[in-house]
Amino acid sequence: MGKYDEVYRRSIEDPEGFWGEAAEAISWYKKWDKVLDDSNPPFYRWFVGGELNTCYNAIDRHVEAGRGDQVAVIYDSPVTDTIQKFTYREMQDLVSRFAGVLRGLGVGKGDTVIIYMPMVPQAVIAMLACARLGAVHSVVFGGFAPNELAIRIDDAKPKVMVSASCGIEGQKIIPYKPLLDEAIRLATHKPDRCVILARPQAAAELTDGRDHDWEALMAGAEPSECVPVKATDPLYILYTSGTTGVPKGIVRDNGGHAVAMPWSMTHVYDVQPGDVYWAASDVGWVVGHSYIVYAPLIHGCTTIVYEGKPVGTPDPGAFWRVISQHDVKVLFTAPTAFRAIKKEDPDGAYLEKYDLSNFKYLFLAGERTDPDTYHWAADLLGRPVIDHWWQTETGWAIAANCLGIEAFPVKPGSPTKAVPGYQVVILDENGKELGPNQEGIVAIKLPLPPGTLPTLWQDDKRFKESYVDPFPGYYFTGDGGNIDEDGYISIMGRVDDVINVAGHRLSTGGMEEVIAKHPDVAECAVMGVADQLKGQVPVGLVVLKAGVERDPDELNAELVKMVREQIGPIACFKQSNIVARLPKTRSGKILRGTMRKIADGQDYRVPSTIDDPATLGEIEQALQAIGYAKKG
Ligand code: COA
Ligand code: AMP
Repeated sequence: MGKYDEVYRRSIEDPEGFWGEAAEAISWYKKWDKVLDDSNPPFYRWFVGGELNTCYNAIDRHVEAGRGDQVAVIYDSPVTDTIQKFTYREMQDLVSRFAGVLRGLGVGKGDTVIIYMPMVPQAVIAMLACARLGAVHSVVFGGFAPNELAIRIDDAKPKVMVSASCGIEGQKIIPYKPLLDEAIRLATHKPDRCVILARPQAAAELTDGRDHDWEALMAGAEPSECVPVKATDPLYILYTSGTTGVPKGIVRDNGGHAVAMPWSMTHVYDVQPGDVYWAASDVGWVVGHSYIVYAPLIHGCTTIVYEGKPVGTPDPGAFWRVISQHDVKVLFTAPTAFRAIKKEDPDGAYLEKYDLSNFKYLFLAGERTDPDTYHWAADLLGRPVIDHWWQTETGWAIAANCLGIEAFPVKPGSPTKAVPGYQVVILDENGKELGPNQEGIVAIKLPLPPGTLPTLWQDDKRFKESYVDPFPGYYFTGDGGNIDEDGYISIMGRVDDVINVAGHRLSTGGMEEVIAKHPDVAECAVMGVADQLKGQVPVGLVVLKAGVERDPDELNAELVKMVREQIGPIACFKQSNIVARLPKTRSGKILRGTMRKIADGQDYRVPSTIDDPATLGEIEQALQAIGYAKKG
């Protein structure tokens, strides 16, 4: 039996022994009473009875073990022309003092804090400071509009919010403070206090009695110690798109997460303490939580906070510059970043300027790595390019080529095999398990391994309805795909109304809710259409109210503005057209799957349940008019 088979089998047959051993790699104030509590399915809990502190594991214990002078965080910001390095000891000082700041503002164990920040080291410091106090952070990505932030404020009910005067997106300065103020105005819940990091690129007006300046508070701050929490206590909430406009508050616990993170660094990424590991993502996404902050730091690596883009900051050699300048061993990013580089530098001329001799692997996730992008990156880099599949919900890879266990030959288009701990199966719509190469719904047999979501924030009911009720005994991933005779998994896309735009997860249902509010719109459908650069982009089709006549371009401009203002620029909603009606089944269900196929120029079957087949021709014409539905 190969090494992978051996490790995988043990993780499934003896999960308590397997994860109990893995848990020895981190520090506990009190060891667990039980590794896996499966007494209340589908709510499984890991390391019940254990006590630890995630910040202690990420920072303090490395200082105590002699890593104090190792660089923990490199802030590399081409947009501000800054490179700043923080050792583990410096991080301990900053994090413990910011924890003191938060404590001084009334934050204690179990309180929530929303962090709405650009890619600056203070975002990492704020996250770790919350963990230090046993407070629960919720980081909201900067590209979301005030309305989306307000929805998260009302759900998480933060005592304190941490933000900055601005973010910098390539050449653009985006003032964050007005967005924060507007979100607080829109929200029903009001945070007691806000801490604002003043950046030189934009000033922020502080509201008396509520807002405080980061530096001013830090100047007088007393360091705070690490507060022991239960393994099952929440570390953070991360909101992600579901099928409606109401985001799901994914909960991450302290114990299972602190065990899974360093385990994945060794076994999935083949990274050792002391290595430089770079996830080119954003702290607002799960990749940022797991692989910019927690996994590399808990594992004793050096992590990079990169405030820039793959292209334009200043050129398509940006990633190669960072890898070479900081001796990066592993880069993790989304395929879209590589498509952006390929578009601007198809021959990889910029690569020749840099010495990448210490660079070992490229990992890609967030969307499927299409074979073209795979081959381009693999040929250019001459190093393993590893597609791996995961979700905000799981927090770490479900399927990967686990290089730290046993490297398998790559099959382009497949993220390789199930990661130990995950029993991935393909189901038909009645929940029957399918055999090799049969296309179906991808599900994972419960229980999920440590580090995955135990539930949704204060919403066990929605957790059960969304993930378990569709196929009892399994976790429903929302993805479709197949597994071949060698156990290689292929993920072919979502089977629900979630889309992935430039590796960012968005809800078409959420966009439809916004568009439906336009006074001239009777009904609408938004679908994810294939895009060469971003993987998918949303495209809308709208039916006008009876008697209304509108110019499609003008209406489109109004709808684009609404989606930008209510969801955010990150939604990338740019195109729509007017149609007389939407294709529906006789029972009134909109035929989204068929429309998506038409938009992508694919062959499609006219569904037998369709009310009026003529609508499909009208849809094709409307999509062609805005550049889609092209054959070949
Ligand atoms: N704050 C404010 N606005 C933001 C933002 C932030 N943190 N991040 C993105 N935006 C804005 C962008 O400025 C852009 O606005 P615009 O419509 O006014 O131009 C819009 O949101 C869309 O952003 P994006 O989809 O990122 O497009 P882009 O053209 O700026 O960049 C890529 C395209 C491919 C270069 C970029 O998406 C990328 O690097 N992606 C790969 C890495 C990654 O982030 N993966 C995430 C999970 S691993
Ligand atoms: P997110 O929660 O933002 O990480 O998005 C999760 C979704 O992204 C998954 O459900 C998939 O649809 C998609 N995804 C992520 N990684 C991959 C991958 N390697 N291959 C295919 N799809 C992926």
